[in-house]
Amino acid sequence: MDSQEIRQKFLKFFESRGHKIVPSSSLVPADPSVLLTTAGMQQFKPYFTGQKDPSLDFGSKNTISIQKSFRTSDIEEVGDESHLTFFEMLGSFSFGGYFKKEAIEYGYEFITQEMGLKIDYVSVFEGDSEVPADTESERIWRSLGVSNIKKFGRQDNFWGPTGLEGPCGPTTEIYVNGVEIWNLVFNEFYCRPDKTLEPLKVKGVDTGMGMERLAVAVQKKKNIFETDLFEQLIDQIDVADEKVKRIITDHIRASAFLITDGVRPSNKEAGYILRRLMRRAMIYGSKTDFERLLLKVVDLYGGFYKELNPVLILEVFNKESNQFSDTLARGMKELEKISLVDAAVAFRFYESYGLPFEVIKDKNPDLKREDFEAEFKKHQEISRAGAEKKFGGHGLVEGDLMAANPEELKIKTRLHTATHLLNASLHKVLGDVVSQRGSDITAERTRFDFAFERKMTPQEIKQVEDLVNNKIKENLPVKTEEMALEEAKAIGAAGVFDSKYSERVKVYSIGDFSKEICGGPHVSNTGEIGKFRIIKEEASSAGVRRIRAIVE
Ligand code: SER
Repeated sequence: MDSQEIRQKFLKFFESRGHKIVPSSSLVPADPSVLLTTAGMQQFKPYFTGQKDPSLDFGSKNTISIQKSFRTSDIEEVGDESHLTFFEMLGSFSFGGYFKKEAIEYGYEFITQEMGLKIDYVSVFEGDSEVPADTESERIWRSLGVSNIKKFGRQDNFWGPTGLEGPCGPTTEIYVNGVEIWNLVFNEFYCRPDKTLEPLKVKGVDTGMGMERLAVAVQKKKNIFETDLFEQLIDQIDVADEKVKRIITDHIRASAFLITDGVRPSNKEAGYILRRLMRRAMIYGSKTDFERLLLKVVDLYGGFYKELNPVLILEVFNKESNQFSDTLARGMKELEKISLVDAAVAFRFYESYGLPFEVIKDKNPDLKREDFEAEFKKHQEISRAGAEKKFGGHGLVEGDLMAANPEELKIKTRLHTATHLLNASLHKVLGDVVSQRGSDITAERTRFDFAFERKMTPQEIKQVEDLVNNKIKENLPVKTEEMALEEAKAIGAAGVFDSKYSERVKVYSIGDFSKEICGGPHVSNTGEIGKFRIIKEEASSAGVRRIRAIVE
């Protein structure tokens, strides 16, 4: 069954059960507070809240869509078996038409009968102090003969609002071959900006299924890139590394769709995301015929997404590509002139021309990544010492952070202060056995590694998340003071003491909640951080846990 057939079956199945087909909305949402469309329910928000009447607009209380979606939080994961930036979401919705029974029965029937798949297990909401356990969904699943039912809390089985507020409620998820493929949300509440829940007048259903993951299961493939959605794209890429091939494929497909929906490469917001995807693809795939690849995207998807416009896509892509390759070419030419390319030289070329380490390494195969990274660190220290702000073509360095542009620096700064709050909260919740092992901040998330022997429980994760959010709400001032390293240790400032600090250090304190040795920069008030959310807790290595978190 190819992907076009899957799409058609999905639409027909629900259409014949009283759903009105609604076209995908643009990847650039009407709501200016959200950067890109991340879920099918976004265009339907006013119908869930009762502000708009679905019967008037669609002639039905039930709708169905195949939504173009994009999740920046997944950029880091692209290259594995199942993560993407751009993806298609098959979604069914009801605004007071039906609720749990029909939603689950439709889900069951579509997966087992139309798609011929076996459900491994399902998950339901286990309940907490605010919202009771979803025993109704459990009962419905059992009545259908599905008895492998797992129960999870807010973290896994509760849909939070997109943006700061919105419809939310417990979810039930369908797993096939160990992978989550369908998320059924029962919107019973309106989540207010202060996180309190208000019952919705009309209960709604919002389901979303990842097209690519469904195709893996239906087409019996090992990963998304082997399905007909990608096979013909990835085959065109002449790179040895499988992961790199996947990254290029994902980024090029996503770029074609973003360009089509009006995004243009720039240094801010959605434009910056597009620029990053395009440049990453260009760097990784210097020998790739991108025009052919982009035309193949149009060829594969244009039948369903009629808006894909090859002329426009190529025009935008080539303009950015020429601009970027001019800079790269100038860099390569300069590099040719240099006989000894050591780590310091490599870093200088990276910084001034954007030449990636891999390309520079061609000039000197003995060049080691550790040395290159050491240069990077050294450079950060130099700029920190001079408290220097640098707005170059390729980077902006301030304190411990490096960013492509002021927008990115701003978000990284918020994540940076959030990381200090996270560190302090982990100490409070898990005890002082916790000790920091590392941290890394990108424009999308913060990643924090710490020594701790076991997996955190969902309750502990929630406690930590809540504690951070409480400190954000308290609007605590962030202060900095310079002192001798010994003095910083004496006052109990946190730090990674096996790393090298200079004799004098800066200590950042957040109210009297956190004190850390750090190069900054930080927000001046915790209120600037926004809402903090832990998106993953996992093992990083033996005895070391890793948390990924975002700010919204
Ligand atoms: N809103 C839910 C999701 O995106 C279900 O559609 O997963």
